[in-house]
Amino acid sequence: MGVSFASRVVLITGASRGIGRAVALAFARERALLVLAARSAERLAQVEGEVRALGAEALSVPTDVTSPDEVRALVNAAVSRFGRIDVLVNNAGIGKVGCVESETFEDNVRQTMRASLFGMINVTQRVLPVLRRQGSGAIVNMSSVMGRKAFARFGSYAIVMHGVSAFSDNLRQEVADGGIRVSVIYPALTATDLLREANEAEMPPPFRHMTPLSADAVARAVVAAVAKGKRRVVLPRMANMLLLGEALSPRIGDLIATALTKQRIARLFRMSNGKTYHETIAGYPG
Ligand SMILES: NC(=O)c1ccc[n+]([C@@H]2O[C@H](COP(=O)([O-])OP(=O)(O)OC[C@H]3O[C@@H](n4cnc5c(N)ncnc54)[C@H](OP(=O)(O)O)[C@@H]3O)[C@@H](O)[C@H]2O)c1
Repeated sequence: MGVSFASRVVLITGASRGIGRAVALAFARERALLVLAARSAERLAQVEGEVRALGAEALSVPTDVTSPDEVRALVNAAVSRFGRIDVLVNNAGIGKVGCVESETFEDNVRQTMRASLFGMINVTQRVLPVLRRQGSGAIVNMSSVMGRKAFARFGSYAIVMHGVSAFSDNLRQEVADGGIRVSVIYPALTATDLLREANEAEMPPPFRHMTPLSADAVARAVVAAVAKGKRRVVLPRMANMLLLGEALSPRIGDLIATALTKQRIARLFRMSNGKTYHETIAGYPG
């Protein structure tokens, strides 16, 4: 990869499963020093064990990212154990499916906003003084393709992911003078527990035939984004066509989103190999 992460301190939120766990294992393979945060102490301990089995060091700190006190304790624990923080991966979050007319829509927006956006702001604000003191560091914020183009029935999530995108864009410009780089990752549907509870028929229509990305593929993109100082990474790359269409005109964006509901178009965009999200995660422990 050209850049060494050996002995670099990487703090990852939402590290107890899914993409966050995969990011932890990817940095562990690079011999980084890991600080793992999520609410579930038990799952964090499992991931800590997996990181150690790869020969890397890890500190797990059970943390709810929406709690300023818990996040303060997380940052203090990271600094007192490792002395610094080189990379912050803001990955913790939730996602809920449901249309605007459903009774739970407003609640879904609030809950997702709280966990995925305010949580991210909370952690960033508490880590930034450490990065400023060092005069260096990298922040990776996890958004979604939905952070640039909303799909039907995923409005609450798309609203918040657009917020993550705007927050990151703003942050990148504010901290550039402090030697701090900001990357945003925009993955398409990924094979994790995020939507496990969602009824298959209620999924956003373009997701129906989509084959999810693997959490490992997203994790590799996170490591590469930090190594190369990339501002924006869209996964899979073909999803850029959707975003380009949307940038030209919402009519084109909507046409592509509708076209993606057809399996042969999803295949053409390399977003389907025939296996759906629920079929893919059915074999996972959950
Ligand atoms: N899966 C997808 O299709 C997809 C696509 C694009 C982007 N993303 C984004 O990727 C990120 C990771 O999602 P995932 O797919 O890996 O989902 P996941 O498997 O459900 O994992 C979510 C992680 O976030 C943690 N978390 C949730 N609320 C938290 C809170 N209040 N405080 C601390 N940790 C919290 C969870 O741990 P605890 O429950 O133990 O706290 C868990 O570790 C999310 O931000 C999501 O929006 C996902």
